[in-house]
Amino acid sequence: MNILVTGGAGFIGSHVVRLFVGQYPNYHIFNLDALTYAGNLENLKDIESQPNYSFIKGDITDEVFINQLFAKHTFEKVIHLAAESHVDRSITDPLAFVKTNVIGTMILLNAFKNTWKDNFSNKLFYHISTDEVYGTLGQTGLFTETTSYDPNSPYSASKASSDHFVRAYGETYGMPYVITNCSNNYGQNQFPEKLIPLFINNIINNKPLPVYGDGNYTRDWLYVKDHAVAIDLVFHQGKLGETYNIGGFNEWKNIDLVKLLCKQMDEKLGRKKGASEKLITYVKDRPGHDLRYAIDASKINRELGWKPSVTFEEGLNKTIDWYLDNEEWLRHVTSGEYQKYYQKQYD
Ligand code: NAD
Ligand code: TYD
Repeated sequence: MNILVTGGAGFIGSHVVRLFVGQYPNYHIFNLDALTYAGNLENLKDIESQPNYSFIKGDITDEVFINQLFAKHTFEKVIHLAAESHVDRSITDPLAFVKTNVIGTMILLNAFKNTWKDNFSNKLFYHISTDEVYGTLGQTGLFTETTSYDPNSPYSASKASSDHFVRAYGETYGMPYVITNCSNNYGQNQFPEKLIPLFINNIINNKPLPVYGDGNYTRDWLYVKDHAVAIDLVFHQGKLGETYNIGGFNEWKNIDLVKLLCKQMDEKLGRKKGASEKLITYVKDRPGHDLRYAIDASKINRELGWKPSVTFEEGLNKTIDWYLDNEEWLRHVTSGEYQKYYQKQYD
């Protein structure tokens, strides 16, 4: 079976590709990625010569190219992760998010539909999405699969739009699909623009830790390898036409999370207790900042038996160790363009 994974050189995608290549020798995994600033083939060095793996450099917004690719490989199943994924970047350049997340998804949907419209049996378009499409919660409550969409950032609006198109192709053309909406991921290989890897990198380099607003924003955090396992389960056992929420049952206020991170980093770096906390700097808030995300992941737990395998403390510990052991990876991704981005965003 030929499976197309888009965005496989990114953070979550690389964990999904590795899991599928290792677990399913009968599948051929084609990793299509444009290698934007967030895509990095170093993430997949260990599996790049596996016989059931191929990398294709290409852009999902290039319609001619995507149509040719589907004609050549007739992908029976697609796991679509490619996206612009960082909220702050969506605030400065919303159109880039519409292009990749909405138009790119449309181009893939059309290519998939046109390839299989006469026989959709045993085919699947699996769309990876986020809990941010639901907007924000107050101090209580959880997002369920029936919570209304209410996105607040250009990123979440673009993901919500792509989710709607996937669903609409299911209703209109009978296209077989599943969608999963997951909470914040953390773990190895995450680009250091998102909270946890950014702060790990800044602590290593004794740089300020820029906490937005008062730091009392809440996110649910899931270890990336647990997300990849959930994707494997939904891919094989998810009901067509359904959506599943995926979460870590693990809510943290940003400021509490940052303090835990500082504590673990001080211990690992042999610094004095409290040294890293001194780097915390409250900065101007993110516009339209969602107060709280929290996921009710009981459906995937009940129907597919999935639950996270590691506690947050364990996952964070493994994550920090990985960044400390992979300073070269960190150095590569934080050179050049990253410096410009950082200056624009934080200085
Ligand atoms: P990422 O930014 O680390 O990786 C995105 C990948 O997509 C990169 O490899 C990039 O090169 C590629 N890409 C971007 N534009 C492309 C294009 N036009 N054509 C082809 N490839 C392109 O993102 P991530 O954090 O791994 O997220 C992956 C998916 O999971 C996204 O759809 C995101 O919305 C979703 N998601 C992420 C999180 C999270 O916490 N990171 C949570 C829930 C859902
Ligand atoms: P982020 O990792 O960007 O994920 P998302 O916005 O998709 O939830 O941010 C997680 C939380 O951390 C969010 O409330 C914003 C906050 N944050 C900061 O306080 N400072 C930062 O420099 C960044 C990047 C995020």
